[in-house]
Amino acid sequence: MTREQIQSELGTQWAGREIIYFKEIDSTNRYAKTLAREGAAHGTLVLADTQTAGRGRRGRGWISPAGESIAMSLILRPDVPPAQVARLSLLTALAVANAIDRAAGLDARIKWPNDIVVEGRKVCGMLLEMDATPEKVESVVAGVGINVHQTQFDSEIAHSASSLDLLAGRRIDRADIVRAFLQEYERAWALSDEAMMRAYCARSATIGQQVQVIGLNGTYTGTAQGVTEGGSLLVRADVDGEVREVLAADVSVRGIMGYA
Ligand code: BTN
Repeated sequence: MTREQIQSELGTQWAGREIIYFKEIDSTNRYAKTLAREGAAHGTLVLADTQTAGRGRRGRGWISPAGESIAMSLILRPDVPPAQVARLSLLTALAVANAIDRAAGLDARIKWPNDIVVEGRKVCGMLLEMDATPEKVESVVAGVGINVHQTQFDSEIAHSASSLDLLAGRRIDRADIVRAFLQEYERAWALSDEAMMRAYCARSATIGQQVQVIGLNGTYTGTAQGVTEGGSLLVRADVDGEVREVLAADVSVRGIMGYA
């Protein structure tokens, strides 16, 4: 995967006009945050063949084996107050799912809040990090890790993870996925709030499903009804039929019927 391959026929206005590629780095998110503080342009992409200290959600790590996956971080400079940044997390999930669908021919779905699953197996995780004052967002780094060529996974995730090659039954080109991601990102960025939410919901693996919400104040079951623009999941609780708003930070949600 080279910068030239990705940029040939890219055709975007801003996404990936600047690509910084590393054979090996600790974390593309860490590096992108530093670059953003130094003034890197909106749309700059930091990409690595492998990470030695990849970061995952909830303080976990993320493994990006050399030659097998995509580890990338897109630097964004949205002109919005910090409260509206949740939208970018939904938008990033939408862009990745669309890219995997188009470039690998797979029915990629978004498992709330923003894992990408194919046939119920996780193929991609995202970690968005923001640099902001209370009034203004300076930058957001949208970090995306995609399993592409892996055939084996650590035992803790072997039951729930997969790769694009395994699911497509053929070798998928990493440069094609990155190029499609940048194109889809720009397309999703230009959508109205309403159109973006419609597209996100149409790609959701969670909406309409029975879910189990595991929160600080206990566990309950219900049906996922939708997602708000603030990124919360709306769940109609089985116990009283009330619709409750579930924040990503507070809980983990499990599909009752399988992983999604
Ligand atoms: C998750 O836990 O599901 C989120 C994983 C996010 C991993 C990506 S890989 C590229 C970017 N750099 C990092 O250190 N993390 C993100």
